[in-house]
Amino acid sequence: MKIERNENLKEQVCDVLVVNMFEGEKTSQELANKYAVEEDNFKGKFKESYLLQTYDKIPARKILVMGIGKKEDLTSDKVREIGAKITNKVNSIKAKTVAVDFENLDEYKRELAEGLLIGNYKFDKYKSNKDEDNEEEIIVSLDIKEDDLKIAEITISAMETARNYANEPASVMTPTKLAEIAQNIELNTKVYSGYEIEEMNMGAFYAVGKGSSEDPKFIHITYAPKNAKKKIAIIGKGITFDSGGLNIKPASSMLTMRDDMSAAACVLGVMSKLKELNAQIEVHGIIAACENMPGCSAYKQGDILTARNGKTIEVDNTDAEGRLTLADALCYACELKVDEVIDLATLTGACMVALGTQAAGIFGNDQDLIDRLIKSADKAGERYWQLPMYKEYGDGLKSEMADIKNSGGRWGGASSAAIFLQNFVKEGQKWAHIDIAGVAFLDSAQKYYIKGATGAGVRALINYILNN
Ligand code: BES
Ligand code: MN
Ligand code: ZN
Repeated sequence: MKIERNENLKEQVCDVLVVNMFEGEKTSQELANKYAVEEDNFKGKFKESYLLQTYDKIPARKILVMGIGKKEDLTSDKVREIGAKITNKVNSIKAKTVAVDFENLDEYKRELAEGLLIGNYKFDKYKSNKDEDNEEEIIVSLDIKEDDLKIAEITISAMETARNYANEPASVMTPTKLAEIAQNIELNTKVYSGYEIEEMNMGAFYAVGKGSSEDPKFIHITYAPKNAKKKIAIIGKGITFDSGGLNIKPASSMLTMRDDMSAAACVLGVMSKLKELNAQIEVHGIIAACENMPGCSAYKQGDILTARNGKTIEVDNTDAEGRLTLADALCYACELKVDEVIDLATLTGACMVALGTQAAGIFGNDQDLIDRLIKSADKAGERYWQLPMYKEYGDGLKSEMADIKNSGGRWGGASSAAIFLQNFVKEGQKWAHIDIAGVAFLDSAQKYYIKGATGAGVRALINYILNN
């Protein structure tokens, strides 16, 4: 899909002219009012639509009346939903040129563009029978400010990139592949492999990757603009497949575990666009990528690992692997002397149980940072919900043999995981942790998302970085 700016939408020769209709009101288009509203009693409820032929009465061949519900119920994210719905509709009628003429919605033009673009996402590269009619690019005309369009395009493209990486089979999207992708971003990228990771004293991360024949990769990408006002690090969990290790997962839980690198995909998507976005802050993208497998050299329950900050960890459960990889990544990030460290991870099933697929859990040690992240997410169309870090959540993590255990019982699992991570955050370092386990990957279509990877974190982080 290509969006072109155009101020004269009503006069445009095109396959479809799309007009909006608030519930129970009229549209800005005469024919639509005559046939849809007066004759057919179309009400314009949210996401309901009405299609009519124009028989040369206007330059457009068809009119699509898009219901957007009551004015007072409209939100920015509902506008994205409407945008995606329009894309689905025009795709289904195989329209190639579309003019979207929305009235009285000027403050939501960027969201509209985002929705149109999000709705066009598909992952069908492995399908032999592609719908060829729909391969040709749709051209959408929109009356939108140049800057708004540019940011919408870059943001959704980053999201698409992240979704593509997370949707790829684990046998394709290996740690080596993630490192390759990172190195192809035109930024300063360092990659450490195998024994180098051991030599960097990342004993926790290194242990997780041991049961796999895939080489682990520690990835550090730096975006450093001149005169940066601020420095942050974003860490993405990068388990390219989570079998659970020796504490192997049941088949039904393992089915989608190629998504366990969704946060890494998010970091790669965001980092790849910072130049184009002309971001004004320094951003370090960090990924500790490996595969959690039960091979004959796999790490075992009862093993004691030493993380980069010297803390020892008793392995209670090899399926609590993400926090081990993040432990070393957090230590590393805290050495970069950045103002804020933000980690994202598909970390716990418990977070998914708590918040479902509707919101990510957010934790941290600095309320202002958490608040600003929640706000950035909300504006960008993502939901972050703060969960508690009462120190008692750490009681279950006490170990008799080491400084800490890597899992602490069933209840409050998202919070105890956050407490675990905090042990690897340097004193005084501002830090936030975002658990995207529930929102990163969908079993069925939802809102403007198709089944599969959602690109969670991308829009929120880009919005956060641009507003800093
Ligand atoms: N990758 C999983 C968490 C997950 C679950 C992500 C469902 C997406 C959907 C993580 O590594 C894991 O296995 N966590 C365990 C931790 C437990 C062993 C303490 C969990 O949540 O069951
Ligand atoms: Mn796991
Ligand atoms: Zn995992």
